[in-house]
Amino acid sequence: MRQILVCLILFGAALTFPVIAAEKVELSIDASKTGAKIDRNIFGQFAEHLGNGVYEGIWVGPDSKIPNTRGIRNDVVAALKAIKVPNVRWPGGCFADEYHWRKGIGPQRTVSLNPSWGGVIEPNTFGTHEFMDFIEQIGAEAYLSVNVGSGTPQEAAEWLEYLTTAQPTTLAKERTANGHPAPYKIGYLGIGNECWDCGGNMTADFYLSQLKIYSRFVRNFNPEQKDKQQMLKIAVGPGGGETRWTDWTETIMKAYERRQWSWDIDGLSLHNYTVVKWPPAYASVGFGEKEYIQILKSTLDMEELVRKHSAIMDKYDPQKKVALVVDEWGGWYAPLPGSNPDFLVQQNSVRDAILAALNLNIFARHAERVRMANIAQMINVLQAMIMTDKEKMVLTPTYHVFKMYVPFQDAVFVPVTFDAGAYIHNNISLPRLDAIAAKDKSGKLWLGITNIDPNQPVEIQVNLAGSTVKSAAGETLTAPKVDSVNTFESPKTAVPKPVSPMVQGGKLTLKLEPKSVTVISVEQ
Ligand code: AHR
Repeated sequence: MRQILVCLILFGAALTFPVIAAEKVELSIDASKTGAKIDRNIFGQFAEHLGNGVYEGIWVGPDSKIPNTRGIRNDVVAALKAIKVPNVRWPGGCFADEYHWRKGIGPQRTVSLNPSWGGVIEPNTFGTHEFMDFIEQIGAEAYLSVNVGSGTPQEAAEWLEYLTTAQPTTLAKERTANGHPAPYKIGYLGIGNECWDCGGNMTADFYLSQLKIYSRFVRNFNPEQKDKQQMLKIAVGPGGGETRWTDWTETIMKAYERRQWSWDIDGLSLHNYTVVKWPPAYASVGFGEKEYIQILKSTLDMEELVRKHSAIMDKYDPQKKVALVVDEWGGWYAPLPGSNPDFLVQQNSVRDAILAALNLNIFARHAERVRMANIAQMINVLQAMIMTDKEKMVLTPTYHVFKMYVPFQDAVFVPVTFDAGAYIHNNISLPRLDAIAAKDKSGKLWLGITNIDPNQPVEIQVNLAGSTVKSAAGETLTAPKVDSVNTFESPKTAVPKPVSPMVQGGKLTLKLEPKSVTVISVEQ
């Protein structure tokens, strides 16, 4: 660290204060060396019937004073449209393995319970049609998790027939009577959730036999979903990196390699929360630098997990036909004091913005295998995009990172080389800087750079091999403290602000604020 002491003589008194000189880091980019497409689906969301994630967060009902369209909040829809949510995983989570879809269709809904999440009343007023209406309103695709734990293959098969057939079957007529004559499009089908735990505590072999049955019989009949439009089936995958989990991946992938015509999968899920201590003990607000670095160190474990499971998948699927789908990820902290602990309510700080950027960068670097991911969870639960309280809504720092990263959706990965340096605190050393680059469809180059260091700015210089920078523009998100959050009262503490990189002699330089996420577009 270099500090320059600047002395000012002001009104005869000598004031001495430190001006922190930024570390300099050169980023070298050869935009002609492109890699895999960063699938827009890695920016997917997860909405479980849990706490206020669905009820209140999305669904307020048509009679609510909160502005809504057919019961779905207009403010939330507008906010989600702005981040171009590609897909939403629903109805769980653990809830999915207790979900019986028939309770949530038609004029008379069955009032049941949500035993996984506090045993509260589940009114089933937000069911199949409401979910499909919601994703249509936000312009996303449906990722349905079917009930393997306590359901049957027949129940799941009938749900899919109800949703997707264009033929005049009894189920299609029922769908029509319930207001939707046209078949729905279902992009993704999750066959169970955490079947090794809340989804039924199955062994890998037992789950594998279930998977084969569901894969065979749960069909999508939508005539428009042929070939490239086909529904993709995602198997339950590992929940960590230990032998138990690598064995799970081995079991599924080995069977995949030897599969017969009668079953198939397109994805294998991976669940990994940044939690450090279980049960979740770290505070989501009101913490210091020690907890800041501990959480960020832990989140970087995602890299090793993805690498480890990808290596196993490579053995059995060298053509990378099966995607690694990280369909639950994010920070999981202690419940906010005073909240219902079963509702998983936590705040969302600038640390979470950085955590989100680091994970998205890892997925982008593994874009050839990681083609889908779903942050947990979309609204009011865990590392949420949005928090609501009755008619109020606030966008979290994580939301803003997802918005800043929109240009990376379906852009082509471009490698960046740099010496990240080190940020050291409390005997933990992390790379000071992280960066990804990508080229969008129009050929524009985008850079996402995270300065993890909460104390030091970093001055970057971007060098383009065989090309020069003509102009650049961007946005940066930071906030005064490591635990700064946006609240209903102060919603703009951590929001993106424009930055103007300096372009001189074909090179770009920019000073990055401490603890910041910056996205810039570069014209060459
Ligand atoms: O996201 C909360 C819970 O975490 C999900 O329901 C479950 O799949 C996971 O254990």
